[in-house]
Amino acid sequence: MEGKGALKQEEAFKNLQAYYDSQGKSLNISELFLNDPERFNKFSQVLPTPDDGDVLVDFSKNRLDDEAFKLLLDLARARQVELAREAMFTGQKINFTEDRAVLHVALRNRSNAEIVVDGKDVMPAVNAVLAHMKEFCEEVISGAWKGFTGKAITDVVNIGIGGSDLGPLMVTEALKPFQIGPNVHFVSNVDGTHMFETLKKLNPETVLFVIASKTFTTQETISNANTAKHWFLEKAKDPSAVAKHFVALSTNAPKVKDFGIDEKNMFEFWDWVGGRYSLWSAIGMTIALNIGFDNFEKLLSGAHHMDVHFRTAPLEKNASFISTDFKERLFFIRYVTRSGETVDYSTGPIVWGEPGTNGQHAFYQLIHQGTKVIPCDFIAPVKTHNDIQDGLHHKLLLCNFLAQTEALMKGKTVQEVEKELKDAGKDPEAIEKIKPHKVFEGNRPTTSIMVEKITPFTLGLLIAMYEHKIFTQGVIWNINSYDQWGVELGKQLAKAIEPELADNVPVTTHDASTNGLINFIKTKRSA
Ligand code: F6P
Repeated sequence: MEGKGALKQEEAFKNLQAYYDSQGKSLNISELFLNDPERFNKFSQVLPTPDDGDVLVDFSKNRLDDEAFKLLLDLARARQVELAREAMFTGQKINFTEDRAVLHVALRNRSNAEIVVDGKDVMPAVNAVLAHMKEFCEEVISGAWKGFTGKAITDVVNIGIGGSDLGPLMVTEALKPFQIGPNVHFVSNVDGTHMFETLKKLNPETVLFVIASKTFTTQETISNANTAKHWFLEKAKDPSAVAKHFVALSTNAPKVKDFGIDEKNMFEFWDWVGGRYSLWSAIGMTIALNIGFDNFEKLLSGAHHMDVHFRTAPLEKNASFISTDFKERLFFIRYVTRSGETVDYSTGPIVWGEPGTNGQHAFYQLIHQGTKVIPCDFIAPVKTHNDIQDGLHHKLLLCNFLAQTEALMKGKTVQEVEKELKDAGKDPEAIEKIKPHKVFEGNRPTTSIMVEKITPFTLGLLIAMYEHKIFTQGVIWNINSYDQWGVELGKQLAKAIEPELADNVPVTTHDASTNGLINFIKTKRSA
C-alpha cells in the first residue's frame, strides 16, 4: 500500500500540535488524576486470555487528557493505521523496498485461515515446518536422538546473531521455569571469546549445534559455525557424525548443504519473515528444544491472541495501539518516508531497559531528573514462579515497580524538600544549598503492563503487542519499519576490509581515520 504523505502536513497532526501548543504542553498527570476520578478506568484496559488470566495495560500515567486522546485517534485514523494493519495481515508487500510481505503473523496463525502471498496460501508450508520441528524436539527431549557415541543431547548451542539470537535468548531466559529439555547456550559475537568460553563447558558427545541464520551468509554466524564444526570434528574424528550434532534454521537450502548439514536437518522459513520477527519461525527451535514443543505452541497462541485483538479491536480499545509511545513523541516534537522524502520529525526511539530493580541503581536518575522526558514502560507479573522467603522478594519487587511509576509522576516539590530537610535537622543555610538538587518536577510519563503470571502464552502476547506497536509507529511516521539498508552497508564495508587485514602493508584507501586505525592494528600485531 502507498504510505501517507508528510506527517506535519496532515490536518489531524496540525490539530494535535495546536492543542499541544495551547494546552497539551502544560498537562500535569497528578492534576489530571485529581480532576478526574474516572481517569484510571478511562485510560487503562484489561485484556482477558483464555487460560492465563487478565492482562492490564495502564496508560493513565501519561500526559494525556480526553481531548489529546481523541486527537491522537483522529491522527491514527487519518494516517490509515487500520488500512495498513489489514495490508500486513493479508500478506501485501508492505516492505516495498525489498518487495516482501511482512508475515510473522502467519507463523503463529493458530486459526489456520488462509494467508496468500504471490497467489499461494502460506499456511500449509508453515504447518509442515511446525510438524517437523515438533518431531525433532520430541526426539531430542525424550533422548531418542543420540549423539555419535550413543548418548542423549544435554546441551544446545544456538549459533546466530541479531534476530537469529536475541528473540530465542530473551524467551528462554524469561521462561526458565518451563525448561523440560536440554540446557541452552547462545553464541552470537564474532569475538572468539564468546565461542571459546562456551565450548569450554561442553561435551562434544552430548551437544547439539543449532545454526540459526536466515541468509546463511552472515559473517559472524558462519565463522562461529565453522569454528564449532572444527572443534567438534577434532573430537569426533568422523565427518558423518556432523549429521547428529548440527541442524540449520534457514531460508537458504543450497548454503546449508554447502556447509555440510543434511537437508532433513534443515528447518525452513521464508523471505517474508523479518530477522527481528523470526522467533516464531524455525528460528524458535532453540526455544522449543528448551521448553518443549507444547510450550512453544502456547507462545505462538499468545501472540496469535494479541494479533486477533490488534486486528479487530477499535483503536481506542486496542492494547497495542494505546501502548504506543507516540503519545509523548508527537507531543514533543528514520530519515526518509515511504515516498523517499527526508522526514522533519524524529523517528525510531532508542529503547533500553533492565529486568527488576537493577535499572533503578543504574540509569533511573536520568529518567527522574534528566533534561529529556523519557516515557517508560513497566512490565510486571502479579505472581512469581519463585515464591521464595514467603513471597518477600516478589513483594519487594512489586513495591519498587509501583513506587517508581508514582515517583516519576509525582516528583518532589520544594515544600516537601524543605520539610524533609528541616525534619532531618538541617540548618537553613544547608537547606538552601541542597534544596534545588532534591526538587524534581515529576510529570514523567509511564505505562504499566501487568500480567497475572509470566507464561509462554502471556509472553507471546506481550512480544506481539510490542511488535504491533513498532508497526503502528512506522505507519504514523510513514516509514518502512522492515528494511535495514544502513546495516547492510556496514556488512559490505567489513567484507571489503577483511582482505586488507591479511598482510601488514599500510593502507591508504580509506579516510584518514580508518586508515589510521587499520595501520595501528597492522603495526601493533606484528610488533
Ligand atoms: O544485520 C541485521 C540482520 O540482517 C538481522 O535482520 C538478522 O536477524 C541478523 O542480521 C542475522 O541475519 P541472518 O539470520 O541472515 O544470519
